[in-house]
Amino acid sequence: MAGLFQDGTGKCRLLDAGAGIGSLSAAFLSRWRTGGFHFSRVELDAFELDGALVGHLAQTLDAYDQRNDFVGNIYAEDFVLAAVESLSGSFFANPLEPYTHVILNPPYKKINSNSAHRLALRRVGIETVNLYSAFVALATAMTAPGGQIVAIIPRSFCNGPYYRPFRDFILERAAIRHMHLFASRTKAFKDDDVLQENIIILLERDGRQVAVTISTSTDDTFIDLSQRDYPFDRIVFPDDPERFIHVPTSPERSAIELSSAIRYTCRIGLRDRFPKPHDDGALSERNRMGNRGLGCGYTFSSDSFQW
Ligand SMILES: C[S@@+](CC[C@H](N)C(=O)[O-])C[C@H]1O[C@@H](n2cnc3c(N)ncnc32)[C@H](O)[C@@H]1O
Repeated sequence: MAGLFQDGTGKCRLLDAGAGIGSLSAAFLSRWRTGGFHFSRVELDAFELDGALVGHLAQTLDAYDQRNDFVGNIYAEDFVLAAVESLSGSFFANPLEPYTHVILNPPYKKINSNSAHRLALRRVGIETVNLYSAFVALATAMTAPGGQIVAIIPRSFCNGPYYRPFRDFILERAAIRHMHLFASRTKAFKDDDVLQENIIILLERDGRQVAVTISTSTDDTFIDLSQRDYPFDRIVFPDDPERFIHVPTSPERSAIELSSAIRYTCRIGLRDRFPKPHDDGALSERNRMGNRGLGCGYTFSSDSFQW
């Protein structure tokens, strides 16, 4: 993950939220110490809520403290609450200077509606359902223009209505530069119990969105790594109101992409021909339309027909 950042100079402000024992920070700092980054100074803010890990985290960071060019600040506190306080400019907050680099392997945990986290996040305009997406949204908000964010996160944010506000939040503030997909759910993170697809994403705060590099490997050994650039309209389809984030793995457009192109094209025509039903009648109206040829040579299923 540390290898995904572009090289940089000057002062680096690094954030590692949910730092654990500091493995990701160590990877970043090792790259710096071995000449892979040309920063004159690194200031790290590492947040870790689990008191049992903080001593190990301090030990990890100590190894990079031999010269006068590194400061590691350990915050043994809740990152969500600290970040919200800082972003909202609360009088009692410890203001955190914007970051130039963020490296994240955030916790995965559902955020219940009306929980302290949900209410805190709402204060800074973040509406999301899981701690992992909350961490990425907060980190993005705290990153300086041009700053880079590398995070390993579950792929679930890419689609589904619950993550729509999160996708909007990210896509409005950052460009997607690179996504790495692990092809095997069972192999990546074999030490975890969670079997789900994970991706590593590189975002650039306020960056201009151009083509996105997609790489794949079976697992975290990266032996069979392959990569290719894809135009952004293959990542987020133009006119997709849900802004699903796709991870294409072949230069040929897939059946889903082709059918989406048809769906969006046809939908524009259909909106004019069929007035939007009242909400309480929407389902039956959709069912009535479902599986019926709609005059553009294709049959639509009820769940692919959207107003
Ligand atoms: C998935 S682990 C990642 C650890 C480490 N970054 C790594 O990659 O090995 C997530 C970490 O976030 C910490 N954590 C969970 N909730 C937190 C919160 N609200 N604020 C700060 N850290 C939190 C957990 O204790 C855990 O160490």
